Amino acid sequence: MKILGIETSCDETAAAIVEDGARILSNVVVSQIDIFKEYGGVIPEVAARSHLEAIMPVINKALSDAACNWDDIDAIAVTHAPGLLGSLLIGTLTARTLAILHEKPLYAVNHLKSHVYANWLDVEDKASSPQFPLLALVVSGGHTQILYMKGHNQFEIIGTTVDDAVGECFDKVAKILGLPYPGGPSIAKAAMKGDDSKYKFPHPKVEGLDFSFSGLKTAVLRAVQKELGLPISHPSHDLKNHLSEQQICDFAASFQKTAVDILVEKLVRALEKYPDVQSVVVAGGVSANRELRKALPEAYFPAPSLSGDNGAMVAAAAFYEIQTGVKPTDPYSLNIYPRVSIEK
Ligand code: KG4
Ligand code: ZN
Repeated sequence: MKILGIETSCDETAAAIVEDGARILSNVVVSQIDIFKEYGGVIPEVAARSHLEAIMPVINKALSDAACNWDDIDAIAVTHAPGLLGSLLIGTLTARTLAILHEKPLYAVNHLKSHVYANWLDVEDKASSPQFPLLALVVSGGHTQILYMKGHNQFEIIGTTVDDAVGECFDKVAKILGLPYPGGPSIAKAAMKGDDSKYKFPHPKVEGLDFSFSGLKTAVLRAVQKELGLPISHPSHDLKNHLSEQQICDFAASFQKTAVDILVEKLVRALEKYPDVQSVVVAGGVSANRELRKALPEAYFPAPSLSGDNGAMVAAAAFYEIQTGVKPTDPYSLNIYPRVSIEK
């Protein structure tokens, strides 16, 4: 079964063709990073306009890279939640139109499910894929959650952030340090030249399996101000002008270490609470992080190129939804849900 997966929930316009939920025939991702580098973050209206320009060329390239025409495609899958409203609209309106035009079944997929299913892509056989029940650590720009999965397409949230997502925290700390958007890769790069034991940041005191990352961002801000001998009233956007390159690298490394430690600590606690778990999968943009990968050697991680937003994971998620009996959605009435839980 060949599925065309379409993803436009944030600032990547992406389409891919995947066979049987695993074999990637094509995977095209057009990133808007270059546009948003200038602004230091995503501007929703600009993202939607860029999706509109890129979406059909991206889909056509996915078809031609896979040497497919529309007759070869068995179904279309698209991200309909959660994400930026305008961005989700462009992807879903395109998918709805194509489904009607080419008479293909249409599947609407939750973005976080797609991230999780990136771990089933490119695996050679069933035995080497993650085994149930499993824990999924979803770490992205918008979410930080631990999910318990009894089987395919069964998601139970057992831990979630009470404030910022970990990716958002990387992005905000990068801004304080004057590192370019997106913050995750910039912090990771600077950290390679830094001393991760130079600064100590406290772990948040959050109950159970939940996370909190807004305190860590503030702790870094205060530590930078203290290091520079500046008052806490000193504007955060100006601190970068006073930091030496080595200080930036040391802050990046120390922050990254703390963020990874916090994630691992909660995951270990979750494994203690769910002793029947057979596999751990890590998913979402932050799963590209090398230190996180090193800290969890037994866990499944997507290929680094599939950690961020892409269409292949959307096609994989739809394939497993179909396997569990999910029916196609109505292309004339498919809605978007910018903020919705994976359990819905
Ligand atoms: O999954 P994703 O591409 O988009 C969302 O669904 O949010 O995640 C984007 C997030 C950003 O916050 C970005 O800074 C972070 O993933 N990220 C990383 C790394 N690469 C991307 N964070 C830490 N280390 C990385 N190497
Ligand atoms: Zn994402």
